[in-house]
Amino acid sequence: MADRPIGMFDSGFGGLTVARALIDLLPGEDLVYLGDTARYPYGPRPLDEVARYAHQIAEELVERRGVKLLVVACNTAAAAALVSLRDRFDVPVIGVIEPGVRALVEASESGRVAVIGTVGTIASGAYQEAVASAADDLELVALACPGFVEFVERGEFDSEQVHVLAQRLLEPAIEAKVDALLLGCTHYPYLARTLGDVMGRDVVLVSSADETAFEVRRVMLRDGLARDRRTGGSATFVTTGDVNWFEELGRRLLGPELERAERISWP
Ligand code: DGL
Repeated sequence: MADRPIGMFDSGFGGLTVARALIDLLPGEDLVYLGDTARYPYGPRPLDEVARYAHQIAEELVERRGVKLLVVACNTAAAAALVSLRDRFDVPVIGVIEPGVRALVEASESGRVAVIGTVGTIASGAYQEAVASAADDLELVALACPGFVEFVERGEFDSEQVHVLAQRLLEPAIEAKVDALLLGCTHYPYLARTLGDVMGRDVVLVSSADETAFEVRRVMLRDGLARDRRTGGSATFVTTGDVNWFEELGRRLLGPELERAERISWP
């Protein structure tokens, strides 16, 4: 079992932030990453539709590709389906919401924090619940940021338009004088420069990627799933959309490990 790959998925490129952290922390592990770029963005879709996609992808990764552990590297999919995926599959299923909230709680000194995410994630209340159960004295501003994911998927990270949009959407967090901003969508770390400029230097930007990678390591050690080698892991990338675009933008975002992608289409 330990020699099997770790599976992970996102609506597109965002989960590559988590893949990067996993490859860096666990370089001996094999990884299969599926980006559902044909159906992105998930954020504006009804949660039951996103849950259906998540189950279809999990079937591919768990049942056909035999992954030993599944990382839902997408907040929207985690908000929609983490519980039902855990019920259905008998491999450990790890999301990005709880690890992100843990990192947020640690980063804030003032207790005034914000989380930004897709419309689906924020409307689901998943972050509001996770923050309330992690610490009951935090003041949370939760903001949906429609449009951010589309900029990332186009490879546009710090244009004037992204800046203007960020200024408008983040205004309530600035007014609330938060000292930590959780990037509750795995696409958003690619906008870090713009988000940092808009929020100002005193606000810590928190990404769930590293914390999620540590959670994967913890669970694998607990369940005897960790490989006992430190190098030589491979990474396989699968997309439901355009392979050339996935390879080109994916390599820019993740790095040289993304040499080649394969295409999968659903029946
Ligand atoms: N990266 C996703 C998330 O964390 C995807 C968002 C989308 O496709 O709208 O929510």
